[in-house]
Amino acid sequence: MSQRKAWRAAIVHCIADPKDVGVENAYEYFEDGLLIVDGDKISAIGHAKDLLPSLSADTLVEHHPDGVITPGFIDTHIHYPQTDMIGSYGEQLLTWLNTYTFPEEGKFHDKSHARDVADRFLQELLRNGTTTALVFGTVHKVSVEAFFEASEVHNLRMICGKVMMDRNAPDFLTDTPETSYQESKELIDTWHNKGRLHYAITPRFAPTSSDEQLKLAGKLLNEYDDVYMHTHLSENKDECAWVQDLFPASKNYLDVYDQHKLLSERSVFAHGIHLCDSEYHRLHETGSAIAFCPTSNLFIGSGLFKLSKAEEHKINVGMGTDVGGGTSFSMLQTLNEAYKVIQLQNENLSPIKSLYLATLGGAKALRLEDKIGNLAVGTEADFVILDKKATPLLTSRLALSKGIEESLFVFMTLGDDRAIKATYSAGQCVHQR
Ligand code: GUN
Ligand code: ZN
Repeated sequence: MSQRKAWRAAIVHCIADPKDVGVENAYEYFEDGLLIVDGDKISAIGHAKDLLPSLSADTLVEHHPDGVITPGFIDTHIHYPQTDMIGSYGEQLLTWLNTYTFPEEGKFHDKSHARDVADRFLQELLRNGTTTALVFGTVHKVSVEAFFEASEVHNLRMICGKVMMDRNAPDFLTDTPETSYQESKELIDTWHNKGRLHYAITPRFAPTSSDEQLKLAGKLLNEYDDVYMHTHLSENKDECAWVQDLFPASKNYLDVYDQHKLLSERSVFAHGIHLCDSEYHRLHETGSAIAFCPTSNLFIGSGLFKLSKAEEHKINVGMGTDVGGGTSFSMLQTLNEAYKVIQLQNENLSPIKSLYLATLGGAKALRLEDKIGNLAVGTEADFVILDKKATPLLTSRLALSKGIEESLFVFMTLGDDRAIKATYSAGQCVHQR
């Protein structure tokens, strides 16, 4: 029999998108809750008073009177090779890439360097309560091997891919259409669906791929049922103008990817800030998703993501940190900045919608909602214990909070890695503060 264990604390998780059912119907909350895990899966969730009597006397129950259990956070766009260049000063996208990013990514031809960074990157994600991420590697095949090997150690549900990039980048970072196709295919055959790992075909963005390379990326995507496609879209105005110059026959930025058959239910586009109506429409039509990356969009001065436009067009949206363009691994801090991005557009981002975007919404964007993203019975036991007494300010502010929605909002405003008491992946503790 698999091992049973239970956690007693406040528990909150989303069961639907507040946009579809209203905030009140979008979540479940147990003030004194119990989460029962059998092996790697959730076997019960409910009020402690109802579930405790069902446990046998020898079941271990961890009690966290100041804890709030949520699903593990899902980061739908991040670059692990940019871990050590987070917080690089003074530039917008295209200069930032040439000045800081490309030299840093050049180091990943060395597998031992890649593994060292991958290990520290995963520790940082887990310290921040993130249990699943859609991750860029570099152009080097070994960078992805190192990442998957490191993820396997902790049995994490992770998605990664080798960057495809054959122009407009330094020679030490370019591949060719044929080598990028071949190496990506080899990585898919070795790693895709191995344990909890998945592969994403990863053309960096339109400007760094030739037509021929994008064509082969599309061919590869259509050779498999369930691999992902992960790239950048419409982040920065100079980038958008450059794409129009490089691909004069395309109707708009998204159309470059569309013409190469890269839109799908498993395609995730980071940013999508400067989109026209037909691009929103096409994203919806193809079931493609957008990763909203507020700390990055503010830090490298890209613009304000229009969440209401994406909602209007029924596009799946998840949250992304976009480290190292983004400035924090913390999903709580990412939601803090998301709130401000939405405020600047005279709208509000409710705490339940924020929780949704960072958990179930991210899972839906990645088509993994049957496995992760909430705490429904039968799903994988990826969860976080937040600590209401993590800092003096959280302690005093949360003592005045009038309910779980306000408490979540305070966590999202004042919280960061310090608020994460423990992180669990498939029922196993992978971080303890
Ligand atoms: N567009 C192309 N490459 C990158 C990258 O590494 N980071 C961000 N934020 N945008 C990109
Ligand atoms: Zn990015």
